[in-house]
Formats: sequence, structure tokens, C-alpha cells
Amino acid sequence: DAGKGEYDHYMEKEIHSQPTALSNTIEGRIEDGTVAFDDLEAGAFADVDSVQFVACGTSYHAAMYGGQLLRTAGIPAEVLRASEYDTAAGPVDENTLVVAVTQSGETADTLDAVRTAAGRGARTLAVTNVVGSTAAREADDAIYIRAGPEVGVAATKTYSSQAVTLALLTQRLADDVPDATPADDREAMLNALADLPRHVETVLETSRARALAREFMDSESYFFIGNGFGHSVALEGALKFKEITYEHAEGFASGQLKHGPLALVTSASPIFAVYTGGDDEKTKTNAIEAQSRGAPIVAVGPDDHPLVDVADAHLWVPETHPVWAGLLANVQLQLLSYYAAKLLDRPIDKPRNLAKSVTVE
Ligand code: G6P
Repeated sequence: DAGKGEYDHYMEKEIHSQPTALSNTIEGRIEDGTVAFDDLEAGAFADVDSVQFVACGTSYHAAMYGGQLLRTAGIPAEVLRASEYDTAAGPVDENTLVVAVTQSGETADTLDAVRTAAGRGARTLAVTNVVGSTAAREADDAIYIRAGPEVGVAATKTYSSQAVTLALLTQRLADDVPDATPADDREAMLNALADLPRHVETVLETSRARALAREFMDSESYFFIGNGFGHSVALEGALKFKEITYEHAEGFASGQLKHGPLALVTSASPIFAVYTGGDDEKTKTNAIEAQSRGAPIVAVGPDDHPLVDVADAHLWVPETHPVWAGLLANVQLQLLSYYAAKLLDRPIDKPRNLAKSVTVE
């Protein structure tokens, strides 16, 4: 317990260590607007023509972030739940890079997917937090997220460091892959990344998540919606919430709410609507649809969005590049889950039935 320092739980400590973890993730990897990873320098991925991500749980949500970024850069990318790899993955060859995103590097489903992909002839890369882990040893190459050890079963800082590492990997691939189209605003994006640790600090200092957790404590269900980067953040927000509060929580793409889940929406089901930029009309219209059925709406994102004017509450994040805004929104949702679980007196660091690393398939 000494390792918790001034905090009540490891999860709380790990949420608050994200500014440091992210600084470590980024350090030394960007030079003159290009990205290098130790022995994977310029040209390392020149033969790659498509990417498949395999991951589980929180790592899967970080992989969704990476997949979206790669597709934006014109690189075909699939994001697969590792346990489904066998039947769900498209064909691979030696030009396919299969990226295992795994904090521990020991998740059996993810290791199995990597072995299957390698057996089919793909090139493999592990993106992991643990030096010398099985994934790092077995994959052709490894990139470390450098988040530092994570004790709480519910992943927090490793998600943020994974997402940033995958964003950096996207830049490396966009430069190496011949048909890729590096983003026009890459310089602005990488400059904004340098501010990310400071922005996380600001969120931690100003968050109203504790008050909102209390306000919505007696709800029946908690829904999380978002589009684009906001979609993966909504899924992660719901996963975190159910893992440690044991309350019913679900995440959806904003536009999917009306295709079924709306039947569950009542005044006792707050909707946390995640957005990363001002052009996300769908999240606003679908949130308003739920609001008209009585659901309280919490806007989760920067000030500059039409949802803020109509929402019942706002979990604010500083203005930044849209690629990073989702990670700040996720910090707000981590705090929300943490405080809700604390009010319910749950064993936050060791939720029932869950393990930090699942080593069976
Ligand atoms: C377990 C943990 C999750 C984690 C997942 C993947 O289910 O409870 O928190 O996201 O495994 O773990 P990995 O180590 O592969 O990232």
C-alpha cells in the first residue's frame, strides 16, 4: 500500500500520473517533425501496405484510435478483437503489419492472434508497456509505451500512452508507406502533442467529475456516445464505468443510439456525449433526441461545440487538436468512473471477477 503515496487507490494515483507518463511516452521520439522509435527509424516500414490491429479490452479501444488515424493517412487498417482474429481478419501477406496492442504483453487472446497472423505470413509488431513480455519477445519488433508500471486492474494511464504511441506510429508509417498521405496539419498536431501533458494536468485540477458522479449516483444505466475518435472514447468510458462501479454502462457510436438503445433511455439514464471538435453534428442531434426522452446530457469535450449550449452539464477539456481532445475527454471519464465507484464503496483496484492480465483464452 505504501506505493499509493498520497492517494486512496492505485487507480487514482495512476490517473494522476498521466502527465508524467505521457511525457515519457513522447520523449525523444519526435525530431524535426518526424517520428523515430529507437531501432525502428526512417524507412523501417517501407514494405508495409496495410495494417491490422489486434487487442482486447481497453487496449482494443486504443487500437481503434490508431486505426482511425491510419485510415486518415490513407493506409488501410483493420481493428480486430484479438479473440476473433481467427475468423474475422482479412487476408494477410508479408506486407501486412499486424500490430498487437497489449499493456501487459501477456494476454492469451492477443498472443494467439499474433501467432496466427505470423503463421499466415504477416509481419508483427508489439506495442506494449512491459519490456521483455511475451508479445515483445515473439513479435518481429516491439515499441514500448513507457507508461511505467500499472497496478490497478482497470487500465488508465496505459490507455493514454498507447493511444499517443499509436498516433506517433501513424506518423512513422505515413512517412514510410509509399502510397500514404501524411496529414496536412501534422506540424500543428505534433506541436499540440507537446502540450498534452499540461492539458491533462489542467483537466485533473479543474474536473467536476466528482460532483457529477454524486449527482447521477442513483441512475439505472449510464450511456456513453461519440463519433470518430469520440466513439472509441465512449466505448472506453463505458468499459471503465462498468468494470469498477458494477453499474450498467454501455457505449455507442452517436448515430447508433436511435437504432435500439434508445428504448432503454429514461430520466434515470444519463448520456455522456464525447466530442473532439466543433463539427460533430451527429453527437448533438442524437444527444438531443435522448434529452427529449428525459435523459440528462453531459457534454464531454472542449467549449467550442453546439452541444455545450443545450447539455445539462459539461465536463470541460482545454481546446487542442482534435486528435488529442478525445484523450482529454477520456481523463474526465476515468475520474467519473473512479468517483462513482468510490461513492459505491467498490474495491476499485481489484474489481470482482477481473484480472489485470488474462492469460487464458
Ligand atoms: C484484461 C484487463 C483489461 C485489459 C485487457 C487487455 O481484460 O482487465 O483492463 O484492457 O485485459 O490487457 P492487455 O494487457 O493485453 O492490454
